[in-house]
Amino acid sequence: MDKNFDVVIIGSGPGGYVCAIRCAQLGLKTACVESKETLGGTCLNVGCIPSKSLLNSSEFYHKSQKEFEKLGIEVNGVKLNLSKMMGNKNKSVLTLTKGIEFLFKKNKITLLKGKGSILSNESISVKDSAGKETTYKAKNIVIGTGSVPTSLPGIKIDEKIIVSSTGALSFKEVPKNLIVIGGGYIGLELSSVWKRLGSNVTVIEYLDHIIPGMDKDVSSEFLKILQKQGINFMLDTKVNNVDNSKNKAIIECTNNKTFKKETFEADKVLVAVGRKPNVDNNLTKLKIKLNKQSKIIVDDNFKTSINNIYAIGDVIDKGPMLAHKAEEEGIAVAEIIAGQAGHVNYKVIPSVIYTSPEVASVGKTEQDLKNEKIKYKIGKFPFMANSRAKVNSETEGFVKVIADEKTDKVLGVSIISSVAGTMIAEAALAMEFGASSEDIARTCHAHPTHTEALKEAAMAVDKRPIHF
Ligand code: NAI
Repeated sequence: MDKNFDVVIIGSGPGGYVCAIRCAQLGLKTACVESKETLGGTCLNVGCIPSKSLLNSSEFYHKSQKEFEKLGIEVNGVKLNLSKMMGNKNKSVLTLTKGIEFLFKKNKITLLKGKGSILSNESISVKDSAGKETTYKAKNIVIGTGSVPTSLPGIKIDEKIIVSSTGALSFKEVPKNLIVIGGGYIGLELSSVWKRLGSNVTVIEYLDHIIPGMDKDVSSEFLKILQKQGINFMLDTKVNNVDNSKNKAIIECTNNKTFKKETFEADKVLVAVGRKPNVDNNLTKLKIKLNKQSKIIVDDNFKTSINNIYAIGDVIDKGPMLAHKAEEEGIAVAEIIAGQAGHVNYKVIPSVIYTSPEVASVGKTEQDLKNEKIKYKIGKFPFMANSRAKVNSETEGFVKVIADEKTDKVLGVSIISSVAGTMIAEAALAMEFGASSEDIARTCHAHPTHTEALKEAAMAVDKRPIHF
């Protein structure tokens, strides 16, 4: 095999594999290094995809028990077969990871199986599972090694009792009591899965609100919705210790305001307090510059401090740790390497929490604009007044559009809705084209659809919603 490549990408997650495909499309001789058995990185194997499978299945289970009867659908003897549900999840994951293998073959991308280490800015070694090491030459190297879960000081994840998201996606039984540390994306999605499947779930969050970074309006409404679903919350609470010595977890925590200490027991504890960049020692040996959080510092062209070495995705010091952000960067860096003008617009990156209802946002929040001293106007529209949401019994939530006070340019949109994750794409597209709220308000939206709520919220910016 020829061991010389135009580009070698380390990591086959959404950043790496998309970058490889785009490089190959642009005529670059491309290889991708992956140490795991299957392609797709965290997102496909132990992240976005398996969690969405369990969210989907658990929602059907929940609805068949609690909501079908209201619709005149009587089902008796609904039973959970957890191993089958997990089997279905594993099958979906495998199909998608095989799909990437197919795309690699189709685009003539060489897959180098093994652990990659950067030897210099033009050579890479790959150690396979048998320990055999091979060196390859690369004109350009792209690091897309992603991130790994973090824990708290003194709390060791064993993936049995104290688990990360990886463990919580593969429980063999429904835990009776599940404690979730962290009220962010992972914590809330997996709380929803296990609550629906029968666990008694308590989320412990250090801050006085959940989903930090999202609009405060959204975060407080979402909290109420999740509490109504039966998830318990302990906000403003610090976990001091988790002991797992007796086949159970003993959690000790302290309320940040009252300093009251509490101790309780759980079958499982999910630690979901964030992720850290997956930066290998070999990278730092080469003196690639990292920031204080050990993220790789890159310039506007995704170039690291070393010539010919680029980095993308969770491992860099730009943007949120999201799969679709990594994909955009993968495409941009491939185009930059090929001499084109690749670019990522960090102002318009949507984020979605795939609970029920879903929560989605793009652009600035009210809090951001206050901090930046930018004057704004707001239009809000509740799904209670949207006909499609009403007939579907999905009336929780709202759309909130924030526009510049003077120019009317849309600066941010937040949505809580059963289909918020799909709806946010329209807001992102509008913002990418620099739309005003008036542009959205004057765009004809199909009736009856949830999307009309975005149009109405845009009309509400000018205080003229029709149905509210
Ligand atoms: P996160 O950053 O979203 O949330 C972590 C939460 O833990 C925060 O609310 C934080 O205040 C809290 N926390 C931190 N220290 C704590 C402590 N000592 N005690 C109690 N609470 C504490 O992190 P998460 O949920 O682990 O997700 C990791 C990354 O993965 C995020 O960047 C997220 O964007 C990404 N992700 C995205 C998903 C999506 O797009 N739907 C799904 C899953 C993950």
